[in-house]
Amino acid sequence: MSAALIEVRNLSKFFVTARSLLGTPRAVVRAVEEVSFSVAAGETLGLVGETGCGKSTVARTLVGLYAPMAGEVLFRGQDVHAALAGPDGALFRRRIQMIFQDPYASLNPRMTVGDIVGEPLDVHGLAAGGERRERIMGLLSQVGLSPEHANRFPHEFSGGQRQRVGIARALAAGPEFLVCDEPISALDVSIQAQVVNLLQELQEEYGLTYLFVAHDLSMIKHISRRVAVMYLGTLAEVAPVDELYANPQHPYTQALLSAIPIPDPEVEKDRRRIMLGGDVPSPLNPPPGCKFHTRCPLAFDRCRREIPPLVDRGGHFVACHLVNK
Ligand SMILES: Nc1ncnc2c1ncn2[C@@H]1O[C@H](COP(=O)(O)OP(=O)(O)O)[C@@H](O)[C@H]1O
Ligand code: SF4
Ligand SMILES: [Mg+2]
Repeated sequence: MSAALIEVRNLSKFFVTARSLLGTPRAVVRAVEEVSFSVAAGETLGLVGETGCGKSTVARTLVGLYAPMAGEVLFRGQDVHAALAGPDGALFRRRIQMIFQDPYASLNPRMTVGDIVGEPLDVHGLAAGGERRERIMGLLSQVGLSPEHANRFPHEFSGGQRQRVGIARALAAGPEFLVCDEPISALDVSIQAQVVNLLQELQEEYGLTYLFVAHDLSMIKHISRRVAVMYLGTLAEVAPVDELYANPQHPYTQALLSAIPIPDPEVEKDRRRIMLGGDVPSPLNPPPGCKFHTRCPLAFDRCRREIPPLVDRGGHFVACHLVNK
């Protein structure tokens, strides 16, 4: 396998949401806690988990929108957050780009699509004048939009087209790594596959590396080479996609997979559906030990006391005391 392009080591990010009069934190959201994974050059790592489990916090920390509270994010072995603040900051900003869930909120409504796509060219001094115009037209055509779209405004487009604008803008900077934070979750089902196909074509053409965030496992099966499953701020399991779907080890992954309907009625009727009891606990006050223990059908004594480490079992990483005995 190719070397890691991105390495995330023991990343933690908490948010203080309430302080006392003296400024001491009174409520702390433990959004991401001790998360480690790597993304190989040219691969797509899917990051999946229920809403609120910390996916966007990881995504935003990877692109430098948030500074890590603890741990580090390395790009080819170089600390991203140190690099962004240093002399190579602009270069790093180009290399790592993000595509957002809500393309409408992330596109300036007062700018034409041409200027939105051209902005990274201006900011990084990549093209000016006629060359700039040509680059913008080229980018629009690459994402399936036409030259006349350049003079229109975001509100004149459908959700799928707006996401294409967001992709063109990300590409304009000439990135190596794209963090796609639920890029298709807000789109109609009929449009989702088109955007996924576009991202796959662009990946092949430019050798891009992706972190692709989604809130359910069915969505990322086709685009990911490996999948990381997140629960309440921590990683439960990371494995190659076929291995994860055929042989899930963590009880949470097993429950998530058992909830996806299978089109074959013969297979479907014999399937055991694992229903998880209760709600996801609050990240303001996560359970001690294994964070999943309050809902895990297999929890035992040790789970309530000891945090299960994410253990590498031959490229299949699992954080569970039952599996790693
Ligand atoms: N800027 C912020 N300030 C305070 N709390 C935040 C902030 N961003 C996220 N959170 C909280 O952190 C947790 C994880 O959020 P998020 O990373 O957005 O999860 P996801 O993307 O998986 O839905 C949630 O409880 C959320 O409310
Ligand atoms: S460590 Fe315990 S509670 Fe956590 S997933 Fe494994 S069996 Fe369940
Ligand atoms: Mg999110």
